[in-house]
This record gives sequence, structure tokens and C-alpha cells, in this order.
Amino acid sequence: MSSVERAARVLKSLKAEEWRTLSGLEKASRGYGAADLGRLSRMSRLPPDRVRFAADSLTKRGLMTRRGAGYAVTREGVEAMALKEYADKDLIFALGAIIAKGKESDVYEALTEEGTAYALKFYKIGRTSFTRVRKTRMGERAEIRSWITANCEAARREYLALKALEGLSPAFPKAMAHSRTTVLLEELSGVRLSSRPYIEDPEAAERAVFGSIKLAYAKAGLVNADLSEYNVLTDGRSVWLIDWPQAVRASHPNALELLSHDVRSVSAFFRRAYGVESDPEAAIREIEGAA
Ligand SMILES: Nc1ncnc2c1ncn2[C@@H]1O[C@H](COP(=O)(O)OP(=O)(O)OP(=O)(O)O)[C@@H](O)[C@H]1O
Ligand SMILES: [Mg+2]
Repeated sequence: MSSVERAARVLKSLKAEEWRTLSGLEKASRGYGAADLGRLSRMSRLPPDRVRFAADSLTKRGLMTRRGAGYAVTREGVEAMALKEYADKDLIFALGAIIAKGKESDVYEALTEEGTAYALKFYKIGRTSFTRVRKTRMGERAEIRSWITANCEAARREYLALKALEGLSPAFPKAMAHSRTTVLLEELSGVRLSSRPYIEDPEAAERAVFGSIKLAYAKAGLVNADLSEYNVLTDGRSVWLIDWPQAVRASHPNALELLSHDVRSVSAFFRRAYGVESDPEAAIREIEGAA
């Protein structure tokens, strides 16, 4: 079972004091890395004996873990807090099947009470480096803080980029909300270009990708900066540009270089996979000129 599935499973069974303890620990872990019972008691505003009781139960469920004399929140713990926030705000009602496992995230289907399906992206940057820095106490605390911060920051950045792109074109997925290490997205019905699906008109599809890169650059002042056949989805007619956490502003010193790289990698793929003979340099000049 993945961390997300474990987090979803505990959602309905946690008691109010356990949520308070988990929430206090999450704050403490973001600020200090780990927390002993005294700090945990203050941050959760619960007496020490009750916090100890809740902490034992949360540790057994894998939502927190012992760190020296104290505790730290786990990935499951942070994900459970995010799921609870979405559920409390009536944004989602249930977690569905996994859609995709990426390098930096796992994407799940999430359902509203009315049955609308969203894509819920859980960031998991830096999971493997966790044990390597466990040598010193300072290193360990910095590491706990840094994986939470890095993943929350990625989710927030992706949300903000997609909000800036909203309404410009259906090629950008809508972002509904973000919480902690997760971002809630419109669910798209496409597959990655990298799987080389049948496309009715590959030239038109490539033009549509370039057109969307241009819109993002000229109208939202954004460059995706990680575009390739892995971050473009298609259903054979429409295209969607996904995965925006690393997007940079058009004013960034490397923006043009990154924009050129995006265009060239998409162009090289359309040439390789679909035999499309386009001129990426002309496309780059046209996009730059539109800003
Ligand atoms: N809004 C969405 N609707 C449907 N599926 C999606 C959506 N967003 C992402 N996916 C699926 O999840 C996969 C990973 O998403 P994304 O590229 O955003 O994350 P990632 O962690 O960078 O993945 P990778 O490292 O593989 O690029 C996508 O290739 C796609 O299959
Ligand atoms: Mg990706």
C-alpha cells in the first residue's frame, strides 16, 4: 500500500485529539524538524498525557515517527492532513485509483460527492535521500524540514502557475486547490505523448503545443521549463501542457534559454515520433516576438 493509500485509510478513523496532535506535530516539524512531548503538547494545546496517548496511536498508524527523544511527522501524516483539508472543505469526498506514478509525484483520481473526478497530485520529492542525512541531529532536523518545505513549495508553485494560466486556453489544466504537498487538478482524459498514441493531425497538434507555449509566455509571462513528450498529454485531437512547479517568469534571466529548450524538445519528439518537419527556431522567434 502506498503512503497515499495508507493516509486515505486512516482519514475516517482518527479522533479529534489525534487530529489536533497531528496538526500540532506538522507545524512543529515544519518549524523545528522534530518535537518532544512538551513542545507537542504546547503546539496541540493538549495536556501531555493525552498527547502521549494520541502520539502512540498516530505512531502505530504510521502518521508520525519517533526521532530521538521526540517525534516527526511522516509523509503519510502530511498527506492525511491534506486529505482532511479537502474533505472538510467539501472539495473531495473519496480517493480513487492511482492514475500515474511519476518521478516526483503520484497522481490519484479524487471524487467529489457528485461524482466529478479530479486528479490529485501528491509530491514526493527527496524521499530516497531521507536516510542519508540522518547522521547528525542538526542534519536530521534540517532534512525533516526540507522535505516538507520542498514538496509544499512545489505544490504551491504548480497551483500558482496554473492559476496564472487559467482561462487562457483549455490546454492548461485547471487547478482547484492546493494543500501542503498536494495540488488538486482538473482531470484530463489524455495520455502522454511519450507513449506515441495515434494523433489525427500531428502537424496541427505540434502547432497547438507551440501556440500554448506562446500563450503562457505572452499572456501569463510564464515558461514551463520542463516541457517534453512526458509533460504533454493528448487524446489524439487536443493537447494539454501539464507539470508546472518549475515554471519561471518571463523576466527570469534564463527564461529565453528555457523557452527554447521547451520548444526544441517538443519539436524533436514530433519529428522522431510522427515525422513532423517543423522549424523550431522559427517557432522560438515567433513566440519571443509575441511577448
Ligand atoms: N490533470 C491530470 N489529469 C490526468 N492525469 C494527470 C494529470 N496530471 C498528471 N497526470 C498524470 O500523471 C503523470 C505525472 O504527472 P506530472 O508530469 O505532472 O508529474 P511528475 O511527477 O513530474 O511526473 P514525471 O516525473 O513522470 O514527469 C502524467 O504523465 C499523467 O499521466
Ligand atoms: Mg512530469
